[in-house]
Amino acid sequence: MSAALDDLLTFLRFPSISTSSAHAGDLVNCAEWLKAKLIGMGLSAVLHPTARHPVLVAKNQHQPGRPTLLIYGHYDVQPVDPLDQWISPPFEPRIENGRIYARGSTDNKGQLLAHVSGVAATLAKYGHLPLNLTFLFEGEEEIGSPNLEPFLKAHRSDLACDIIAISDTGMVATGVPTFTYGLRGIACVELTVHGPSIDLHSGIFGGSVANPNTILSKLVASLHDADGRILIPGFYDAVRPVQAWESDAWAKLPGGADETLALTGVPKLWGESGYSDHERRWARPTAEVNGIGGGYQGEGSKTVIPRSAFAKFSFRLVPDQDPADILEKVSAHFKAITPDSVRLEIKIGHSGKPYAMDPDSRFGLAARRALSRTFPREPALIREGGSIPIVQSFRDILGVETLLLGLALPDCQAHAPNENFPIENFEAGILLNQALLEEIASA
Ligand code: BES
Ligand code: ZN
Repeated sequence: MSAALDDLLTFLRFPSISTSSAHAGDLVNCAEWLKAKLIGMGLSAVLHPTARHPVLVAKNQHQPGRPTLLIYGHYDVQPVDPLDQWISPPFEPRIENGRIYARGSTDNKGQLLAHVSGVAATLAKYGHLPLNLTFLFEGEEEIGSPNLEPFLKAHRSDLACDIIAISDTGMVATGVPTFTYGLRGIACVELTVHGPSIDLHSGIFGGSVANPNTILSKLVASLHDADGRILIPGFYDAVRPVQAWESDAWAKLPGGADETLALTGVPKLWGESGYSDHERRWARPTAEVNGIGGGYQGEGSKTVIPRSAFAKFSFRLVPDQDPADILEKVSAHFKAITPDSVRLEIKIGHSGKPYAMDPDSRFGLAARRALSRTFPREPALIREGGSIPIVQSFRDILGVETLLLGLALPDCQAHAPNENFPIENFEAGILLNQALLEEIASA
């Protein structure tokens, strides 16, 4: 264990921020370190360059007649800003009260290394694995995995497998084994409202020229009604209703509205009426404005009509919504309500499909057995609000389902300052992976 923890601290020191081209070398160094680690365990490992960050594939000696498990993880991390909110530097891991504080500790380096260390422990114990194993680690998950889908298509036979496992989701509470059978998808779009050719004096021209900030605000405000429902025509057409068994099971889980209130610090929760907190976050689609700007942002006032205003949107999608269809509907909606006193520019960003699998499938049951061997109780069955778009691509391209065995706690602060991962979750993850290899091998 202490060797595994040392490895994790080393892994966390690489500032592998995928969105920043200045860090491209750090991603390569991080992937090289991981590759050396896997080779040291006796696996064969190949680092594949892509248009951006490398993909690492490692295997044991595959033998016919055994099931093949593919384990996926990502070694890239989110940016660290706002840096002044961190108690200690994000790439100098600090251990306090049994938790490791560092960017990527939970998302996803701690969970990825729990897979690797579980495999290492099995190899150390038996000298071999009970199944065929392929590790697939990428460095672009946090930027929408732009090169992984083409990589899957190009390496379909090299990556052929029977089942996939990922630890990149959450646990409903400390010590509660959690099996995730669904993820939300995502569709991103950016709007720019163009008005006058230059910023104008708002006294001289105000009243005769539409203000891009005002028009943009109307576009943003057009998304929801007073009950939190999204008003884009056709937006809910393909939404699979929450099933009664899901509502019943989720109502009995820890977490929910009180915890969300406490974790977020908002004065009051908000959301689509008629749905519980779990349903809203796991099984209902959303429309969010992730960034917005236009006009004067400095001190005091400046009387201008800005030449343009922008907003960045992301829509979280649920089965069976299709990102391409949603993006068409979103674009049509914004075009239809934009007055001709401005020009609307629509930029489509990245997207990913939602996912749902059968938790009672053969491998689903095997994963649940591995979870309850590790944490001695029945696993919670949940969906998650976050997105791992490659999971649906695995199904589409490799024809294989994915088991989501997350170890992230609700207060892990993923994507935020002071991200952290409990050492006990790392230890549990190592045991979980040993149990998983056995359960998949005998399923
Ligand atoms: N690990 C998360 C996804 C996640 C978070 C799943 C919480 C379940 C619960 C992943 O690393 C992530 O943040 N994904 C991005 C994907 C996007 C950039 C395409 C997300 O969900 O915003
Ligand atoms: Zn993430």
